[in-house]
Amino acid sequence: MSRPSASLRTAVVWDVLRGALDQRAKLSDRAELSVLDTGGGTGNFAVPVARLGHRVTVVDPSPNALFGLERRAAESGVAERVRGVQGDVRGLFDVVERGAYDVVLCHGLLEYVEDPADGLRNTVAALRPEGGTLSVLTSGLGGAVLARALAGHFTEARHALTSPGGRWGEGDPMPRRFTPEQLTALITSTGLEVISLHGVRVFADLVPGALVDTEPDALEALARLEAAAAELPDFQSVASQLHVLAEVPPRPTAGPAA
Ligand SMILES: C[S@@+](CC[C@H](N)C(=O)[O-])C[C@H]1O[C@@H](n2cnc3c(N)ncnc32)[C@H](O)[C@@H]1O
Repeated sequence: MSRPSASLRTAVVWDVLRGALDQRAKLSDRAELSVLDTGGGTGNFAVPVARLGHRVTVVDPSPNALFGLERRAAESGVAERVRGVQGDVRGLFDVVERGAYDVVLCHGLLEYVEDPADGLRNTVAALRPEGGTLSVLTSGLGGAVLARALAGHFTEARHALTSPGGRWGEGDPMPRRFTPEQLTALITSTGLEVISLHGVRVFADLVPGALVDTEPDALEALARLEAAAAELPDFQSVASQLHVLAEVPPRPTAGPAA
C-alpha cells in the first residue's frame, strides 16, 4: 500500500531546522553558518541548508552517497558551499575540526552506529564551545509498533515493544529505535540543553496514500495535522521519527573578583 510521502516526510523537521538556523545566525551575528552533517548521505538536508546560504560539510563513509551528494549539490547550484568528506562519526576528528561548527546535524545516524552515546559525543564536540545547535533525527519506537500492529503483524509489534533496541525481529532493517525519553536522556547526558522535541510522521506512515491522493486538499490538511501533533507528548510517543534540537548551554559568567 502506498503512503503519502515526499514533502510530508521532512516538513516538520525542515520547518524546525530552518527556524533554528535563522536563530543561530542571529545569535552568532553571521549570515553564513558553518554546518556539519554527520551521516549526511546524499544531502537530503545538506543541500537545502546550503541553498539557504550556509556552508555545509557532509561526513559519510559511503562513497556512493558522497557521489550522489556531489551531483545533487551541483544540480542545485550550491556545489561551492557543500563539501563531502569520507569518514565515520567514530573518527570524526580525523576528517573535520573539533569545536568549529555553528550547527551539527545528526539525522538518521544514531540508529545505525554501534555506540550511539559515543557517536553523539563526537557530534557534540564538533560544535563551537561558545554556542552551537545540534539537530538529531532518529527512528521512534512507538511509530514502528503501531505500524506493525496495523499491518496485522501483532507478534512483531510486541517484539518491538518489548525488545531493548525496539526491533520487531531478525528481518527488521532498523538496528535500533528510541523513545522520546531515551533520546532526550542520551542528548542531555552530553551536557547539551534540549530546547525542543517534535514527533515526525505521526500519521503519514499509517494513512493509505489513496486517501490523500483523491481529495484535493487532503495533503495540506494532513501536513497541518502532523504539525499540530508534533509538539504533543502523547503523539510524540507514537511518531515514526523523533526530532530534537539541543544547544550548548551558555558559559557561566565569572563572578566578581574576591
Ligand atoms: C538513513 S541515512 C540518513 C541520511 C541523511 N542524514 C538523511 O537524513 O537523509 C544514514 C546515513 O548514515 C551513514 N552512516 C552509517 N554509519 C555511519 C557512521 N558510523 N558514521 C557516519 N555516517 C554513517 C550512511 O552511509 C548513510 O548515508
